[in-house]
Amino acid sequence: MKRYIVGITGASGSIYAKRLLEVLEAKEAEVYVTVTEAGRQVWNDELEVNIRQQLGDNKDSNSIIYLDNQNLSAPIASGSFQTDGMIVIPCSMATLASITQGHSSNLLERAADVALKEKRQLIAVPRETPLNTIHLENMLKLSKLGADIIPPMPAFYNQPETIDDLVNFVVGRVLDRLGVEHDIYQRWKD
Ligand SMILES: Cc1cc2nc3c(=O)[nH]c(=O)nc-3n(C[C@H](O)[C@H](O)[C@H](O)COP(=O)(O)O)c2cc1C
Repeated sequence: MKRYIVGITGASGSIYAKRLLEVLEAKEAEVYVTVTEAGRQVWNDELEVNIRQQLGDNKDSNSIIYLDNQNLSAPIASGSFQTDGMIVIPCSMATLASITQGHSSNLLERAADVALKEKRQLIAVPRETPLNTIHLENMLKLSKLGADIIPPMPAFYNQPETIDDLVNFVVGRVLDRLGVEHDIYQRWKD
């Protein structure tokens, strides 16, 4: 069974995280989820459903394990806890800056720091527009540290018709990078 960490922050685009979790759950992966305070607020606003109800109280799911972002003694805070990768989706510019600086002031940032120090896959899905020079420099720095930067930029060559199509394209590209098989978007010339 694959084991992933999903970190959700207060950038716009909670729907990307929701879709990613649905796919990983369907794949019966073990998924450790932690959400920043701003991430919780934006999720509740954008998806109009309480994130705790959707994730933490989902008794039917053996797959999603919800961790308090202030709990720095959670398993994912330690490098000895083996995982197959971490995805920060969506990734705010604030969390991007903290990860890039090795700040580790909450569980999400610490888990990302662990991924970098253990040379495990770290994928960031940074969302902001327009981007200032600090944002761009932080993305470059994170990329140089070995992380994958996958901005949520849907393509239009596959003729998307719905918001789901756009979301699936972005999440599909994250899954491609993780090496998880899926068919949630139509590939070029498929
Ligand atoms: C509705 C809403 C949308 C936001 N969208 C973004 C965004 O797209 N990108 C971003 O970097 N910050 C965005 N922010 C601001 C972040 O939530 C804010 O910087 C916060 O401190 C990030 O904290 P976190 O990184 O701990 O989640 C948004 C805030 C709100 C309320």
